[in-house]
Amino acid sequence: TAPRTFRIAAIPADGVGKEVVAAGRAVLDALAEDSAGAFAFEWEEFPWGCEYYERTGKMMDEDGLDQLKDFDAIYFGAVGWPTVPDHISLWGLRLKICQSFDQWANIRPVHFLPGVTSPLRKADDTELDWVVVRENSEGEYAGLGGRNLSGRGQGGEVAVQTALFTEVGCERIMRFAFDLARTRTRRKVSSVTKSNAQQYGMVLWDDVFKRVSADYPDVETESVLVDAMSAKFVLRPEDLSVVVASNLNADILSDLGSALAGSLGLAASANLNPERRFPSMFEPVHGSAPDIAGQGLANPIGAVGSAALMLDHLGLPAQAARLHRAIEATTAAGILTRDLGGTATTDDVTKALIDGLNA
Ligand code: NAI
Ligand code: MG
Repeated sequence: TAPRTFRIAAIPADGVGKEVVAAGRAVLDALAEDSAGAFAFEWEEFPWGCEYYERTGKMMDEDGLDQLKDFDAIYFGAVGWPTVPDHISLWGLRLKICQSFDQWANIRPVHFLPGVTSPLRKADDTELDWVVVRENSEGEYAGLGGRNLSGRGQGGEVAVQTALFTEVGCERIMRFAFDLARTRTRRKVSSVTKSNAQQYGMVLWDDVFKRVSADYPDVETESVLVDAMSAKFVLRPEDLSVVVASNLNADILSDLGSALAGSLGLAASANLNPERRFPSMFEPVHGSAPDIAGQGLANPIGAVGSAALMLDHLGLPAQAARLHRAIEATTAAGILTRDLGGTATTDDVTKALIDGLNA
């Protein structure tokens, strides 16, 4: 049979994004080479990001979305560099793609790895494993608001940043979370809210959660305020399985989760358009890390874990499992970058991951 060829758009963008996307591509190419012709990747790399902005005044081509729309998936690095204001770089590339391609579900597993020290003492003898499901299309990142509304100028400025919650948006992410919970050992969904203080959007969120949960009587539920949930991540994480939260709340909680697992450099994520009308985008949770960029210090595991999520999405779950085993073999062998207390370079870890594909 003819090999299945997956067309992947690579957007390394800025800083360590370039290093970890190169690492992830090397691991994926090794995987394909080892597949006895069962599947292949056809890559196209796009030069978009902050350097592109400095040259052209644009974060991506005017018709960039058109160029991307027929790919099977997008493999993304990280966007942002001190030469461009962060809100311009983020909205001009990553958020533009997420929102235009209706990638409304952002999946961020919190996965504890062998050989990696967690700052949580209980991680030593407790099974910890949960996933943050982030509403990725509206909420606090809807981009609604305005600045200098008072007209008073500097010193008297007023800005409004409005959160948008729709019943459709809440319901689809919650159903996604419940469906995901049904695939897990622990069938539980924790909803993160702030309805005590945010009495419109977050009360709608809570009402939809109650209504949707009635359709999943086999799934345990809880509703937890975001401040209490951040404490719970630290104190009772063994009680978590699927955590569903709004755009901002999940953004913050997932960084906390990855820090608890040992490093922001380990955390993987998928921005999914579940209807598959548009390509989905796979990227590490971390940013461009200007403090370590260009030095070969970046941990590629978050990017490689994101590649595993991409393989799952492309219908290659056995290959995704191989990537996970390679990651576990690498960390268990103590081949760790500096963020994990080791001395291995990005290349060392990448080589170990490739060697570990047959682990
Ligand atoms: P960051 O995630 O880039 O860095 C935070 C800390 O984690 C730094 O100490 C960094 O060295 C470390 N770190 C991050 N990735 C690592 C890796 N792979 N290996 C080892 N250590 C790693 O967050 P920061 O500093 O807040 O933002 C830097 C830039 O990245 C900003 O321009 C920001 O807007 C952008 N950013 C972009 C994101 C994206 O493209 N999805 C997400 C978060 C930030
Ligand atoms: Mg973030």
